[in-house]
Amino acid sequence: MDMLQIIEAKKRGSELGESEIEAWVRGVVDESIPLYQSASLLMAIRLNGMTFDETWLLTRAMANSGDRVHYKGFPVVVDKHSTGGVGDKVTLILAPLVAACGVPVAMLSGRSLGFTGGTIDKFESIAGVTCEFDDLTLQRMMQEIGWVNAQPSSRIAPADRALYALRDVTGTVDSIPLITASIMSKKMCGGGTHLCLDVKCGPGAFMQNFDDARKLASSLKQVGILGGLKMAGVISRMAEPLGQAVGNYVEMWEAVRYLTEWPKTPLAELVMALADHMLKMYMPDEEKRAAMLMSAIESGAAIEALRRYLDFCGGDVRAIDQLMSMELTQEGVAVTSTRDGFVNDIDGYGLALCARELGAGRITQNDRIDPMAGFILEKQLADEVKAGDVLLLVYGKKAKSWLSQNRERIPALFTIGNSAIDKASIILDEV
Ligand code: URA
Repeated sequence: MDMLQIIEAKKRGSELGESEIEAWVRGVVDESIPLYQSASLLMAIRLNGMTFDETWLLTRAMANSGDRVHYKGFPVVVDKHSTGGVGDKVTLILAPLVAACGVPVAMLSGRSLGFTGGTIDKFESIAGVTCEFDDLTLQRMMQEIGWVNAQPSSRIAPADRALYALRDVTGTVDSIPLITASIMSKKMCGGGTHLCLDVKCGPGAFMQNFDDARKLASSLKQVGILGGLKMAGVISRMAEPLGQAVGNYVEMWEAVRYLTEWPKTPLAELVMALADHMLKMYMPDEEKRAAMLMSAIESGAAIEALRRYLDFCGGDVRAIDQLMSMELTQEGVAVTSTRDGFVNDIDGYGLALCARELGAGRITQNDRIDPMAGFILEKQLADEVKAGDVLLLVYGKKAKSWLSQNRERIPALFTIGNSAIDKASIILDEV
């Protein structure tokens, strides 16, 4: 198959067939197709789109490009995918919560890169914890503690690994067919039988308006069904950082708070909606599901599920105890408001960039992070603020030095208006 003909066909807007798509994906993995030709095809796809059939064929070819995890003896395994957002710590709360209700959970997660945070970095902010395992250890983890969260091996969807890196540097990330194939190829290989989606919509998300979020959700759902997964989920509003903490250890700290105290916030509403979907396939009775989830928190079963996971991953007992008692190893440095009013907007993207500068994230894959670096927001959307009130606390080795040069940047990320705004529900729709 001549790659140039495939590029020309997509450039003209023609539909690619099975043999063309499979030849391309094979050539990406065995490196027989030069990156400049793949880059050119990616841009043609970005500009001219793909039909649903093409999107499915691309997803299947990418899923078949490597290995698949199977949890033997577990006919139902639930997974969750979020399209990502600043402060998104849902997995840290949701996975132990659902597992504590007796439902096997398996998720493969990534590390932070660019302005995105990474669930693996959040777990690994606890001293001793490592989340890289071989297949046999994943099986043992599922058997011993009932849930798995790990970094995917390089053998899971290697075609996506190569293509995602290329998309990142060629302006071709924002394409619904390419996002669908990238996400669903990995999900088809991660060992889950059921997938719960959290498609974000808002200024800090891939999909900034509701119509695009709906299109992405529908594309993910339809491809997932063809790939043999039972699909459910929500479209959720991403209008501000999700919860109070942005960083790694600080997000673990906040997750513990939810697993023990369950504050009534938009984050709790989102976790509950996703957990409810994940339990639904076991338990049709909605009231029983809600009661079971609350009892997992109140009885301590949910926090125990997190403790057992961290212990399995090699966490230092003292570090786990410190986390469970919600001790922060450092005092945060306060940044205060200069005016009275109401929080009308918080620039989550700007906050994520600041968190990365503090050391919470990476610019390149080899950068080392400071596990403690990040923010805890003391004011959130719609809150009333008085001049002198603390807007947020800054953490990390570089907190003081970074602030001495950037103090005015933080208040600029908060839009304080004269009038109060309504806090709308975080759930916009069902998938
Ligand atoms: N997450 C992925 O895994 N792939 C994309 O293309 C976008 C988000």
